[in-house]
Amino acid sequence: MPPDINHIGLIRQSLPAVQKFIYMNTGSVGPLAVDTHEAIAAAQQNELNHGRIGADAFLNKRTLKTETRTLLAEFFNGEADNIALTHNTTEGVNLIVSAFNWQPGDEIITTAVEHGAILLPLFLIRQRYGAVIRIAKPDENPVKAVREQLNAKTKLIALSHVSFSTGELLPVAEIAELAHRHGIPVLVDGAQAAGAIPVDFQALGVDYYSLPGQKWLCGPEGTGALYIRKEKLADLKQTFIGLSSVEEYQAEGSFLLPGSARRFEIASVYIPALAGLKASIGWFKETVIPEWAFTRIKELAATARRELALIKGVTVITPDQRVAGLISFRVAGVKPPRLVELLAERGIVIRKITETNCVRASINFFNTDEEIEQLIKAIAAVGI
Ligand SMILES: Cc1ncc(COP(=O)(O)O)c(C=O)c1O
Repeated sequence: MPPDINHIGLIRQSLPAVQKFIYMNTGSVGPLAVDTHEAIAAAQQNELNHGRIGADAFLNKRTLKTETRTLLAEFFNGEADNIALTHNTTEGVNLIVSAFNWQPGDEIITTAVEHGAILLPLFLIRQRYGAVIRIAKPDENPVKAVREQLNAKTKLIALSHVSFSTGELLPVAEIAELAHRHGIPVLVDGAQAAGAIPVDFQALGVDYYSLPGQKWLCGPEGTGALYIRKEKLADLKQTFIGLSSVEEYQAEGSFLLPGSARRFEIASVYIPALAGLKASIGWFKETVIPEWAFTRIKELAATARRELALIKGVTVITPDQRVAGLISFRVAGVKPPRLVELLAERGIVIRKITETNCVRASINFFNTDEEIEQLIKAIAAVGI
C-alpha cells in the first residue's frame, strides 16, 4: 500500500481543524477537508455570480445529484439506482420506518444501544399505530439476542451498525441473514460506520442503510444517503412525495414513480452542500484511500482501547472484539461532563454520552500515535 508517514502528513494538512486541537469527536461531526470547503465555496460563488436559475441550472443540478449517487454507490458497493440523497441519517430512518403498512400488534426489534435516530421514529410508530417495540440486549451475542426477540409478528429489525453509546460494532450481516430466513427486512443506522469501517451494501445483505455525510465521511452537514435494496423498493409505501420523487404527474392525479430509490427524494436541496458531499467522497477515495483509512482507524482505536483499559479506575465500555472508531469509557470519580472539560483544557476534544453515563473518543484516520498517547496520559492524570 503506497501511503506512508507522508500520507498522514498530507491528509492532516488538508484538514485545518485537526491542526488546532486533538480532534476526537468525528462521531458528532468530522472535520472538513479543504477540497470540500472549496467545492462548497465554488458552488456558492457560482450561485452568487450566475444566479441559481438559468438555462443550464436544472440540468446541472440533476447531473450533480446523479454523480453524487454514483460516487456513493461506488464507495459502498451499491448501485446508483438504489440510493436516495437525504439530509441526514435520521431522515433516511424516518423514510423507511414510515413506509410500512403498520397494524396494531406488529412488532419491531431494535437493540438496547440505539440512538434517538432509530428510537424516536419507532416510538412514533408505536404511538400512532400500536406497534410493539422489542429490545434486544446485544451483550455477548447480539445475533442470539435478536433471535430471542423474533416471532411471527416481527415486521422489521432496526439497529445501528456501530452503537453511538457503547461504540460496539454490531454483526449486521449475520443479523440480516437470520432476519431474511424469517422474511423480515433489516434497516441499519450507519451513522457511526460509514467512513469509519468498510461498509459494503451487497456483502452486508441488509435491506435499508441510512448514513450521514457530516461524520466519518467528513462532508457537510445537511447531507446523507439512504440505500434501499432493489427488490424491496416496491414493498415500501412512501409517506412523502414531491417533484423530485416522480418521473411525471398529471393534473388529474396520476403520477409515475421512478424504479429507483430516487422516489424518496422530495424537492429542492441546497446545491453547495451536495457539491461538498461529492467533493468529500472524492477526496476520501482518491486522497485518503479507504483501505488505508479503515486499517488505520482499526489499529489506532485498538491501541487506544487497550491502553485505556490498563489505566487504574478506567472502565472501557466498548467490547474488545467489536471495536470500530468509537471508544466509550468511564473514569472512576470523575463525572463525564467534568472529564470532557478536563480534556478540553489539554486540547483534546471528546464528548460525553448521557445515555451510558460515559465519555466517547472518536479515533479517526487523521489522528496520530502521539495524539493517542496524549489521550492516554491525560486520562491517567485525571484518574485515581
Ligand atoms: C448512531 C447514530 N445515528 C444517528 C445519528 C444522528 O445523525 P444525523 O444527524 O445524521 O441524523 C447519530 C449522531 O448524531 C448517531 O451516532
